[in-house]
Amino acid sequence: MANTILVGAQWGDEGKGKIIDVLTERADVVVRSQGGNNAGHTVFIKGQKYVLHLVPSGILRKRKVCVIGNGVVVDPVSLVEEIKGLRKLGVHIDGNLFLSETAHLVFPYHRELDAQRETLKGKHKIGTTKRGIGPAYGDKAARTGMRVIDLIQPERFKARLQEKIKENNEILKAFGAKPLSFSRVHEEYRTAGDYLKPFVTNTVTLLHKALRRGDNILLEGAQGTFLDIDHGTYPFVTSSNTTAGGACTGSGIPPHRVDRVVGVMKAYTTRVGEGPLPTENAEIADMLHAMGREFGATTGRARRCGWFDSVATRHACMVNGIDDLAITNIDGLDTLDTIKVCVGYRQGGRTYDFVPNDIEVLSACEPVYAEFPGWHTPTDKARKWKDLPVRARNYLKALAELTAANLAIASVGPGREQTIFV
Ligand code: IMP
Ligand code: MG
Repeated sequence: MANTILVGAQWGDEGKGKIIDVLTERADVVVRSQGGNNAGHTVFIKGQKYVLHLVPSGILRKRKVCVIGNGVVVDPVSLVEEIKGLRKLGVHIDGNLFLSETAHLVFPYHRELDAQRETLKGKHKIGTTKRGIGPAYGDKAARTGMRVIDLIQPERFKARLQEKIKENNEILKAFGAKPLSFSRVHEEYRTAGDYLKPFVTNTVTLLHKALRRGDNILLEGAQGTFLDIDHGTYPFVTSSNTTAGGACTGSGIPPHRVDRVVGVMKAYTTRVGEGPLPTENAEIADMLHAMGREFGATTGRARRCGWFDSVATRHACMVNGIDDLAITNIDGLDTLDTIKVCVGYRQGGRTYDFVPNDIEVLSACEPVYAEFPGWHTPTDKARKWKDLPVRARNYLKALAELTAANLAIASVGPGREQTIFV
């Protein structure tokens, strides 16, 4: 399968977890390179549900090396909980999970500041997951962060944490929030540090050994293209580079060693949190929610829903260099009479065939739609391309054509077996 970067081509929750799980069958090493426990990847295997936040989905298959790379921000307490939860479900962790020494840490003051800033913004809030992701990456960029390598050195950690708690308590006080207790945070984090120590290593040298062995490496993206700090709908974005380039900086794998970029997209569009979503549509949201679909894996929030936006996904193919598409959740559209696809935007007498950078312009854009006839047939039992109704095949072919990428995978449900290789 060669070295592959997998990215979300929309606003996150494209069904990456499932596609990663499917692709992992042919991978030796699976790497997370950005984001933190704001991500939630849901994977169903034989009816058992697994929700992963920080641990690469590759952990669910035997003998896969799983790496949490340098670009990830790690809440160690939450990572310990996740590992314990996986162990309880019988997932084998020891010897296959590796945590980068240089990944930055998320602390309770990051979470508290995340929440306080959101409250202060009022109706202009971002709608973050409140996991402290923005403030943690903020500390990293300001060169005031702490890393995994600090966590596992008790003396150093204690001294640095004392400083950090003091500084952040001043900031929290200014917000009118409760200060944090150093001893409580210290105790909690040291316990987590001891638990995580066996997993901590230099993941860059580990990955380069794998490259020299000729292992197949899969870099699993979290969130999606339009949540990218550079290429997304700023400021309604997350704080990492969710696009393909971020996978290289967040892992230490050089760009020229990447052979393929896979972009995952839903057959429609969803978004959690605030910010522009040009094709948003209440009817399709009500329909999907009534089916019990489109509730967030991390926060349980109902996702906003809309029609497929080919202007946005074409842009995603461009900035990520997407070679192959995986289109998911096709079965979500099974009952519709007519399916719309956005093929352009209109705003202030102008038409756009690209995503305008001005957030106010994008927010005011009216989509221009093409219409496709629905197939009115359940697709969840389809296992081969020819099992799909002709209208569904035509719809998917049109999406691939509009986004200018090659349709490689069609997914008709959460199960491993509900995957069609086109
Ligand atoms: P943060 O990453 O928690 O700071 O949230 C920033 C924005 O990204 C919010 O709109 C979140 O809803 C969104 N977001 C963060 N992580 C995910 C994800 O894994 N899936 C979908 N949206 C996400
Ligand atoms: Mg998710």
